[in-house]
Amino acid sequence: MKNRFRCLKNKNIVLIGFMGSGKTTISDYLSKAMGRKKIDTDILIKKREKCSIIEIFENYGEEYFRNLESEVVSEISDMKNCIISCGGGTVLRHENVENLKKNGIIVLLSAKPKTVLIRVKNSDSRPILNGNMNEHFIKELMDKRSFSYMSVADIVVDTDNKSIISISDEIIDKAAIFASSEK
Ligand code: S3P
Repeated sequence: MKNRFRCLKNKNIVLIGFMGSGKTTISDYLSKAMGRKKIDTDILIKKREKCSIIEIFENYGEEYFRNLESEVVSEISDMKNCIISCGGGTVLRHENVENLKKNGIIVLLSAKPKTVLIRVKNSDSRPILNGNMNEHFIKELMDKRSFSYMSVADIVVDTDNKSIISISDEIIDKAAIFASSEK
């Protein structure tokens, strides 16, 4: 098993993708299975501000949140051997992508709007979806973002109708192939 991880050359596995694509669940699993430290950009932001993402959006606005996001991404960019779970909007800023790519393999988790809705509908912790909790809104925003997601991803793993273990296995296999193809 450990041999499988050696091919990753200490690179971070950076999980990106739309809200509800499974980044947090998969990062929990991968960090345990691989014995790697787990970093979640939203958790770092919440700790720093000592309040929820909802409160940050409500009190200071999205731009303020995005600036915090860029700060934490810049701070973690020199780390290695980690599983990094990003917020759904993190890679929409170019500087964040550059920082995450320094030591990381960017893994896009994809899911259909219907799947996303099932996964997020009982949560009110995402300001962008509050008041917009429907498949139509999710699809429109996903369509707007999908080019950016696809263009920065080193590998893509679909998560619809798959178990946590099979998604994680696919990530490790594809990431190992990607890492060994890099100079
Ligand atoms: C956001 C996604 C959220 C969080 C914030 C904004 C987005 O993270 O960063 O609410 O713009 O897609 P998750 O993708 O982990 O829900």
